[in-house]
Amino acid sequence: MTLYADRQSRLTISDLLTMKQTGEKISCLTAYDASFTALLEQCGIEVILVGDSLGMVIQGHDNTLPVSVETMTYHCRCVSKARQRALLIGDLPFASYASVGQALQNAAQLIQDGGVDMVKLEGNKTDIIAHLTSNGIPVCGHLGLLPQSVNLLGGYKVQGRDPKQAARLLQDAHEIAAAGASLLILECIPAELAGKISRAINIPVIGIGAGIECDGQVLVIYDLLNINSGHRPRFCKNFLEGSHSIQDAILAYHNAVKQRTFPGAEHSY
Ligand code: KIV
Repeated sequence: MTLYADRQSRLTISDLLTMKQTGEKISCLTAYDASFTALLEQCGIEVILVGDSLGMVIQGHDNTLPVSVETMTYHCRCVSKARQRALLIGDLPFASYASVGQALQNAAQLIQDGGVDMVKLEGNKTDIIAHLTSNGIPVCGHLGLLPQSVNLLGGYKVQGRDPKQAARLLQDAHEIAAAGASLLILECIPAELAGKISRAINIPVIGIGAGIECDGQVLVIYDLLNINSGHRPRFCKNFLEGSHSIQDAILAYHNAVKQRTFPGAEHSY
């Protein structure tokens, strides 16, 4: 039995914190439109992320860099129309939070016009996180592989493999939590390091390519439905295989997260 299976009202940050504390895994998926959001809600997904991955999976770009605040706002609004009880996060896109003032203006737009509960931003931006939270805006941090910095990183590579990088990531996670973030996403880092970070900080940690020991998991919805062109990252699993419908596949993902059968070692680094 899961804590919030029968819950009708919206999940809150404190519900997610209770899940971390009681060891119940948090299921999260991306959505970009109302139809998929309705399916996610029917399957009991607890957190929905309108990711700037939409630049790749919806708009067909090579990376997330061309995504604008206006595009994010539009898709957040589409998703928020069908959202019922899941906590809704919207990505602040590339170069939209370079200063505290710009971050506040764009985060307010995602909340007021897009209808999200929380904004996500990449990297150790403690000044921005503190400014947003002091203005009443919940923030989700994002560490590890940072898609908005793909040109700096030199590609989509696993992060935190060497001890110096690993120590930096642990320190960054502590600083992001101390700055007031409510959630943290870890992308493409070794499972052991992700487990260490999840245990070390007191906010829920959601992993993607970060192993089974995070407090929850997230995938891009198209990846779990095996809709992708070209390279499929190691951390993806085709949940449509063996399922009779898209809804079945989403439910299989949700159950696998809850029962700790996903991600397996074969999906981890
Ligand atoms: O944009 C996105 O979908 C994301 C997830 C991959 C975590 O940031």
